[in-house]
Amino acid sequence: MNEYDSAVIKEMLKENGFVYTNSPDAANIVIVNGCVVREKPEKKEFELLKYYKKRGKFVVSAGCLAQKDKEALLEFSDLVVGPMEYDNLPEIIKRRGVFTDYNKERDKFYEYARKRDEVGFSEYVTIMTGCDNFCTYCVVPFTRGREKSRPPWDIIDEVKGLIAKGTKEITLIGQNVNSYFYEGVDFKDLLQMISKLNVKRIRFTTSHPRDISLAVFDIMAKKDNIMPHIHLPVQTGSNKLLKEMRRGYTREEYIYIVDAARKIIPDIVISADIMVGYPTETEEDFLSTLDLVKRVQFDYAYMFIYSPRKPSIAYYRYKEQLPKEVAVRRHRRLVETVQQIVIKKRKDMIGKTYEVMIDGHAKKNEGLSRGKTRGNITVVVEKHIPEGEFIKVKITHVNGATPIGKPIKT
Ligand code: 5AD
Ligand code: SF4
Repeated sequence: MNEYDSAVIKEMLKENGFVYTNSPDAANIVIVNGCVVREKPEKKEFELLKYYKKRGKFVVSAGCLAQKDKEALLEFSDLVVGPMEYDNLPEIIKRRGVFTDYNKERDKFYEYARKRDEVGFSEYVTIMTGCDNFCTYCVVPFTRGREKSRPPWDIIDEVKGLIAKGTKEITLIGQNVNSYFYEGVDFKDLLQMISKLNVKRIRFTTSHPRDISLAVFDIMAKKDNIMPHIHLPVQTGSNKLLKEMRRGYTREEYIYIVDAARKIIPDIVISADIMVGYPTETEEDFLSTLDLVKRVQFDYAYMFIYSPRKPSIAYYRYKEQLPKEVAVRRHRRLVETVQQIVIKKRKDMIGKTYEVMIDGHAKKNEGLSRGKTRGNITVVVEKHIPEGEFIKVKITHVNGATPIGKPIKT
């Protein structure tokens, strides 16, 4: 979401007479659009702010970073702008102060989003912002505010514009896309509308097990341009913790959704966010998570160690944290378990053919290309192929967890 916001901010400022440079050292104004969901990236952002402030730049703290720490940030920056204040950015950019009201409209911001001309083969489009779920560990409801869905015609306009400029893959984004709702149009309706446009690949993220309807899977199965992948954060396999976190589903309900998805779309890729080290997590809770991971057989997962984030509910609720070494050990064990499953899944790809959209060259070898399958699995292709091209690739072997293959003629 911050990546999308940054692209639009760039367009907004360019249109208002500012000149963009990729090198912050050469700039007069440096904008740090930061994520604060977890502790680690936030620390880096603070370092960046201090670094550029020391060097005499006009420093802007933007995004969730701004929303979370507000006045405290003035020590490290000149201007603090929350994500719902971007409509005013061209006017306030040279002023000092704190602008963090989140009940604002983003009409002008989306107008610039529709106008942006530097577009790639793969682009994000925001369909909703904010979140009303208040999971206990999470700061998003405090930094992005209440859920707000964008009008479908506005989204469609932006998608059409992107297609006309050469974009082939659109990822619809929002903190909780499944709760999209605008004047009678829900997420599955929106998905159906977008799928009628000439987009080669449609993706969406992030989904929520509480809000997703199985009707979404029916539409995914019917429409060839909606990719068979769902990112469905589970966080934990313990019913006790799911309740404490206010996630709004049980492990049994989660498994039911996954099984239904695989029945409707047999080749669907299922990924998740998983967390360990919640303050009240017992060894038994953790083992439930491992057990769920084995039961679900995730295609990939992002795994985190809980950190208390102000002003989340959990930050105030729990006085004591788990010992760090316990959390680190559980995280390591979880990563190993997921990795074993992932490697097995990648090996199962050997001998099969996948449609791949090329998005660059392989990290270690410029002669090789890299791309994503329809299911969002990154593969390496043993040939140089231009970015944005679609090819059929037969997987011949696996290096670590990376499938490698050769292009085949169709
Ligand atoms: N500590 C650790 N991980 C967190 N996440 C959200 N809040 C926290 C936190 N306080 C993780 C969740 C979420 C992902 C975006 O970040 O797994 O799904
Ligand atoms: Fe945070 Fe929960 Fe909302 Fe996701 S659903 S953004 S974890 S509050």
